[in-house]
Amino acid sequence: MKVLGVESSCDETGVALVEAGPTGVPTLRAHALHSQIAMHQAYGGVVPELASRDHIRRVLPLTEQVLREAGASLADVDVVAFTRGPGLAGALLVGAGVACALAAALGKPVLGVHHLEGHLLSPFLASDPPEFPFVALLVSGGHTQLMRVDDVGRYELLGESIDDAAGEAFDKSAKLLGLGYPGGPALARLAESGRPDAYALPRPLLHSGDLDFSFAGLKTAVMTQLRKLGDTPTDVQRADVAASTQAAIVEVLLKKSLAALKQTGLKRLVVAGGVGANSRLRAQLNAECAKRQVRVHYPELALCTDNGAMIALAAAMRLQRGTVAGHDYGFDVRPRWPLASLAAAAV
Ligand code: KG4
Ligand code: ZN
Repeated sequence: MKVLGVESSCDETGVALVEAGPTGVPTLRAHALHSQIAMHQAYGGVVPELASRDHIRRVLPLTEQVLREAGASLADVDVVAFTRGPGLAGALLVGAGVACALAAALGKPVLGVHHLEGHLLSPFLASDPPEFPFVALLVSGGHTQLMRVDDVGRYELLGESIDDAAGEAFDKSAKLLGLGYPGGPALARLAESGRPDAYALPRPLLHSGDLDFSFAGLKTAVMTQLRKLGDTPTDVQRADVAASTQAAIVEVLLKKSLAALKQTGLKRLVVAGGVGANSRLRAQLNAECAKRQVRVHYPELALCTDNGAMIALAAAMRLQRGTVAGHDYGFDVRPRWPLASLAAAAV
């Protein structure tokens, strides 16, 4: 079975072809990505209308590229999958429209996929894939969640951010530091030359006793700290603020992940979403999990941020478990869509 996946929920157009047998981990035949970062950079963030228009321009050439690289043709595609949500409504509609039109033209079924389910399952495409059950730390630009994952579609929300997501905290703090968009990688780069203990920034909800997160206060603390440094902080001060901010975010993510592992008694952690690319987070999780005989799994670095491979993969894994792709091409999208609600639906 060959599944073509289309991702267009935000500022990356991703297309991929995944091949799957009736069981076993699906394999990635080819994937292609176009990032809109350069286009949105001038505005300091994603402009939804520009994002939608660019997805329209990119999606078919990327599809042709993927098929060419996989040595396949459209006739070989058995199922077309697309990101149904959550994400920007207009951007989602482009991927959904193209996927459904392609499937209709080919007479093949379509399947709408949850974007976070894609992130969550993306480590299955790594060379050392995880096994169920595991705790998942989902850290993207819009979501920060800890989930217990027993199988595809069996997700229990253990805790989540009550305000800003971790990626948002990186992005907003980066903006305050005058760094470009997307802020996470830029802040992480600046932090390399700073001291993580230079400024005592808050670790929100660290001792709350539950597995929820809150990052909105951190951004305010970064703003206050920068004000104290005056109009022209030195490069050293800016690097120190970046390192201290990153240290605060990473410490909260680390401690809460360890608490989730303790609470569930599970010995496996999967880290997914863009912030999962952060090297301080990876280093600290690896060190602390090793002490506790916990295995940590990440997606390949190239599949940490948004991509089509994770969408084709999630669809293939669902199909292996009996989800039926449909021939109803009257698509809809779900800009807001809680991942935990999938557990209630039939897999
Ligand atoms: O998963 P993702 O690509 O898109 C969403 O679904 O949101 O995540 C994007 C987020 C952004 O907030 C970006 O700043 C952050 O991931 N990010 C990072 C790093 N790479 C990406 N944050 C910290 N360190 C990084 N190396
Ligand atoms: Zn994402």
